[in-house]
Amino acid sequence: MNLTSSQAEQILALADRALSADGFAPLNEEARFAIAGAPAEHLLAEQDGTVVGYLQWRPDFGTAQVVVDPHYRRRGLGGALVEQLIEGLADSDLELPGADITEWGLWSFGDLPAAREFAAALGLRPSRTLLVMRRSLAGASAPELPAGLTIRGFRPGDQDALLSLNAEAFAEHPEQGALDADGLAQRMAEDWFDPDGLLLAFDADGLAGFHWTKLAEPLLGEVYVIGTASRVRGRGYGRVLLDAGLAHLAAAGATEVVLYVDSSEQIPVRMYEGAGFTIDHRDLLYTRPAQENR
Ligand SMILES: CC(C)(COP(=O)(O)OP(=O)(O)OC[C@H]1O[C@@H](n2cnc3c(N)ncnc32)[C@H](O)[C@@H]1OP(=O)(O)O)[C@@H](O)C(=O)NCCC(=O)NCCS
Repeated sequence: MNLTSSQAEQILALADRALSADGFAPLNEEARFAIAGAPAEHLLAEQDGTVVGYLQWRPDFGTAQVVVDPHYRRRGLGGALVEQLIEGLADSDLELPGADITEWGLWSFGDLPAAREFAAALGLRPSRTLLVMRRSLAGASAPELPAGLTIRGFRPGDQDALLSLNAEAFAEHPEQGALDADGLAQRMAEDWFDPDGLLLAFDADGLAGFHWTKLAEPLLGEVYVIGTASRVRGRGYGRVLLDAGLAHLAAAGATEVVLYVDSSEQIPVRMYEGAGFTIDHRDLLYTRPAQENR
């Protein structure tokens, strides 16, 4: 189904109420793009004309995000939304996209105790952990560049090289690796987008890596995406790009920086720890084999 603009507004208001109550936003950036119109399935629970529960299903990722209004919890609404998803996935007549997946999951941002119990009650098990790491930007300064490497901000015309490097660097990563020209354009149309904050590193063979920084809140920067070409791995370019991006964020006024990394990715996690990041909290993906839906 497509959301009306009133439904979209109500879902965002619901997400804000949950953020105030829980301390964590229940919907991530991808989910917000889908609320604004990117492809996804939306399930809504309404009470007296107000949206009090919402589940978003991304068939391309096999994952859902679910939130219930803090005043309407423990009444079965969250469970009913997930049951509706399970029925849709099990019943091919409903033709819910993604019915052919082997495993599906629910994101829990902040790994809240209620979400843990909720997932357990639904027979879901933790499968992926995203570490949310943070550090202060005090003392961040531009790194010395290795010989032959130059770094500059994004310029129109860089899109194709950036997309192909992103696809190569994130071939194993379901969400980031899927970034296409539309997804790139959508992100570049965001208020926070700053071409100078999308740092590209070039060597004699072309684009060698990039660090896309994000400054969506005045003081809190983000290492949004960082990737290097496989042909240059192990040369320390990742760390150079990381430090160049941190220096950029500090110069743009940020005092702290945050990043998200899969806990299984030991090489980047080590790089971030080496650069002074520590774990702030964890986001968990709870999953269940799809055959258990039947
Ligand atoms: C997690 C969330 C969606 C649950 O919504 P809900 O409508 O309260 O869930 P339900 O009433 O359907 O609960 C179903 C079962 O989950 C378990 N459960 C849910 N919340 C619980 C809590 N706070 N403590 C203990 N068990 C809980 C219970 O077993 C419950 O069954 P019961 O009430 O019969 O005991 C809601 O707390 C929420 O929006 N949290 C913030 C967003 C979030 O963390 N989403 C990720 C979910 S993995």
